[in-house]
Amino acid sequence: MTFRLIWQFLLIASLTTALTVKENDRASFVTAAKSAASNAVSYYNDRQSKDIPGKFDGTWWEGGAFFNFLINYWHWTGDSQYNDIITEGLAYQAGDNNDFYPSSVQGTIGNDDQEFWALAAMTAAEQKFPDNPKAGAVGWLGLAQGAFNDFMDRWEYDKLTCGGGLRWQLVPTLGGYTAKNSISNGAFFQLAARLYWYSGNQTYATWANTVWDWSVQSSLFNNQTWKINDIVNIAGDCQNPDRSQYSYNYGSYAAGAAYMYNKTNGKEEKWKTGLDGILQMTWSTFYPTKYGGNIISEVICDPWARCDRDQLCFKGLMASWLSTIALVAPYTSGEVIPKLTGSAVGAGQSCTGESNNQCGQQWYAGKWDGTKGIEQEMSALSVFANSLVAFAYEGTAGPVDADNGGNSTSNPDGGGKSGEYKPPVLKDITGGDRAGAAIVTLLFAGAWIAIVLWLLRAK
Ligand SMILES: *[C@@H]1O[C@H](CO)[C@@H](O)[C@H](O)[C@H]1NC(C)=O
Ligand SMILES: *[C@@H]1O[C@H](CO)[C@@H](O)[C@H](O)[C@H]1NC(C)=O
Ligand SMILES: *[C@@H]1O[C@H](CO)[C@@H](O)[C@H](O)[C@H]1NC(C)=O
Ligand SMILES: *[C@@H]1O[C@H](CO)[C@@H](O)[C@H](O)[C@H]1NC(C)=O
Repeated sequence: MTFRLIWQFLLIASLTTALTVKENDRASFVTAAKSAASNAVSYYNDRQSKDIPGKFDGTWWEGGAFFNFLINYWHWTGDSQYNDIITEGLAYQAGDNNDFYPSSVQGTIGNDDQEFWALAAMTAAEQKFPDNPKAGAVGWLGLAQGAFNDFMDRWEYDKLTCGGGLRWQLVPTLGGYTAKNSISNGAFFQLAARLYWYSGNQTYATWANTVWDWSVQSSLFNNQTWKINDIVNIAGDCQNPDRSQYSYNYGSYAAGAAYMYNKTNGKEEKWKTGLDGILQMTWSTFYPTKYGGNIISEVICDPWARCDRDQLCFKGLMASWLSTIALVAPYTSGEVIPKLTGSAVGAGQSCTGESNNQCGQQWYAGKWDGTKGIEQEMSALSVFANSLVAFAYEGTAGPVDADNGGNSTSNPDGGGKSGEYKPPVLKDITGGDRAGAAIVTLLFAGAWIAIVLWLLRAK
């Protein structure tokens, strides 16, 4: 071989070197997390909307997930180089009402979108991410409480709208307004559980129970089989589920159940049974045995490498939640941690894209699948960073609550009543009104189905 050929060979070899993550090698997880964090932040810094802190191009909610994962990254690796952009983005998108419902997104977002920001703030409080030092700024805990109060205000008690539940969308002209979905209710449940865990305020415990019980009563999830569906329609009294399977629906409820389990000292059977049931369904649904059973696959789209931007983030959300489950329900760590580290090893093998270890979405494939983007980097970052729980000593890794080192400032009466759209209060319902309401609901349901069909076709 001539020198030139050797040089080319070395160059190609270096281009295709995976992020080699080894099960028992903590440093290899840190190195991989550093690479994915750097790539994710490069995408973030290059976005068109970079003048608006925290705002991604074409999507708003993903900023919440992004900061959640970057906080996890700081927590587990100690690398604080991204802390300023985290603080800036979270503080900016909290909006004037300090509840992650800024005027810029009112009219376009759903409950779930707002919830991901609130959960990021909760993560900041639990992982002792320093509160925004700006004078007068509300603490991360306070921002999560403000958002919680919004969701509490939006809960519907009316029997005509399924006797409970949060709608998917907030605006009547958006299709999901006539539906209630698992992630909106699962993330509200989780937020309530985490606020209860952190603060001990009984109001949050009551809400965690209310949301869980309603989710069972509707057909969002089944507390015998632990199968979690995606969406139910108000028109069908929330008993007609879209049964699509998404990992984050499972993770949102499982993590909340783990916090409730912990805060009730393992004494309430409901939470342990629920956590165990959901975890078993999670493993059997999203960790295909043909790839060894420890590598997560978003089964609705990963096998074709055709996940949309939202779906690409779900594996990252799962990693963040599983990591915490292993800490607050330590009896699960023996089964949870191999699912995290196995997925991280797989993700590492997918990160051979281009010259800088771009990550793909099929973590079980053993190679890069040719897709790339900020979402792939975010999910990879999350699984590398959050797998570090495998090397933590129990009790030292957090999360913290208000009695054990947590010092984020509280603002329990924040948010709420933010001038947002409220469904009309139905008084004296006549037969005519009911028929009218049914027709309107059917029209919305029809529009919603049309949108879903169109989206499916467009893929
Ligand atoms: C399932 O839900 C029903 C209705 O809320 C409740 O009575 C029952 O105890 C629950 N079962 C389990 C295993 O949680
Ligand atoms: C609750 O979580 C802590 C860690 O935060 C752990 O040490 C403790 O054992 C957990 N309690 C139960 C009942 O598992
Ligand atoms: C919380 O504690 C950390 C040190 O652990 C400190 O840097 C920070 O200023 C404290 N925050 C508040 C709001 O007291
Ligand atoms: C408990 O939470 C509720 C609901 O957000 C709030 O209204 C109340 O002020 C809180 N109580 C305390 C003591 O913080």
